[in-house]
Amino acid sequence: MQEGRTIKVGVLGATGTVGQRFITLLSAHPWFVIDALGASSRSAGKPYAKAVKWKQSTPIPSAVREVGVVECVPEHFKDCAIVFSGLDADVAGDIEAAFRSADLAVFSNSKNFRKDPHVPLIVPYANPAHFAIIPQQQALQSPPLKKGFIVTNANCSTTAVVIPLTALERAFGPIESMLVTTMQAISGAGYPGVPSLDILDNIVPYIGGEEEKLEWETLKILGGIAEGDDGVKAFDMHARHPLRVSASCNRVPVIDGHTECVSVRFARRPPPSPQQVREALAAFTPDAQTIGCPSAPRHTIVVHEEADRPQPRLDRYYQDGASVSVGRVRQCPVLDIKFVVLGNNVSIGAATSSILNAEIAVLKGIVVTK
Ligand SMILES: NC(=O)c1ccc[n+]([C@@H]2O[C@H](COP(=O)([O-])OP(=O)(O)OC[C@H]3O[C@@H](n4cnc5c(N)ncnc54)[C@H](OP(=O)(O)O)[C@@H]3O)[C@@H](O)[C@H]2O)c1
Repeated sequence: MQEGRTIKVGVLGATGTVGQRFITLLSAHPWFVIDALGASSRSAGKPYAKAVKWKQSTPIPSAVREVGVVECVPEHFKDCAIVFSGLDADVAGDIEAAFRSADLAVFSNSKNFRKDPHVPLIVPYANPAHFAIIPQQQALQSPPLKKGFIVTNANCSTTAVVIPLTALERAFGPIESMLVTTMQAISGAGYPGVPSLDILDNIVPYIGGEEEKLEWETLKILGGIAEGDDGVKAFDMHARHPLRVSASCNRVPVIDGHTECVSVRFARRPPPSPQQVREALAAFTPDAQTIGCPSAPRHTIVVHEEADRPQPRLDRYYQDGASVSVGRVRQCPVLDIKFVVLGNNVSIGAATSSILNAEIAVLKGIVVTK
């Protein structure tokens, strides 16, 4: 990226939990400049500061306070090279498809296109190689597209666990099986989210659709792109990956930060020791760090030695929530190794992942910036 050059971007769902994190991060971004903010017809026509119920710990950035919120239609975003989406999943499918058809590059947080065999599901520290499917996705649209595409990032609980899994696979080869139990923050349900009478003094051992998402998304991310008999490339979740995943998801009375207890079994025998695992996690340096993404943290995985870390209240904002924390790495008497991972669900679990994906796409020339 040329020094001093900027790129106009838009945010769909700008008033929501993820949208507010986008606004906070993009307002301080060295390349991206907010050009348009979209939300529902309830918010459209109002200045951003009047439309939003701002829940961030820093004030609304002054540059967006008076920006008028618009409806989520492509004509309002025609000057944007990149559109970030934090839309409610009930509406994201049709709106994001319309933006792609208008030849806009969409980076989405919603679940709607994650299963599409021609849409990459990218965790920026794990599988940026999956951007390779974009020309295929563009060629399959009618008419074929030159600039428009959809890239999704993963569910917040999937993102946190896939980062250490990627580091471990790079160091020690395939992981055969994983058991994961999550303790997920309330903000993961958006605003106003879980009623206070359901979550205070309580744990809810069910989050609709979450366990299935964690189980299949992990395979798509760690898996590969396969070419069918017709020569069309598509994601095949089992093309490379033999991993079996069992997930148990719980909502807990924490505001931000998903904590996950993970046990893994490696294909290789003997498996690595806990110390080898700690060293591999701490040394993990994904491409996002080396190619110059401005939002990449100095350490992608922060490994804690203390017996009682990571903890959401203490560790969720480290490096602005762009890294994950891993601790309690130890032997598992059933599988091989167990550990605890903490990821900030609104940052690396959502907006930060989208922004990093867009940074990678700009650096690789996948986004057309004129
Ligand atoms: N929260 C997390 O930690 C997290 C993590 C990863 C992924 N996600 C995903 O990210 C997406 C957003 O989540 P969230 O937690 O930010 O939700 P949220 O707080 O409920 O925000 C939803 C946004 O969608 C907008 N919207 C609703 N109906 C609309 C319509 N008909 N047309 C246009 N805009 C509409 C809302 O605008 P108004 O204010 O005008 O209603 C708001 O800006 C969801 O798909 C979610 O699954 C969330």
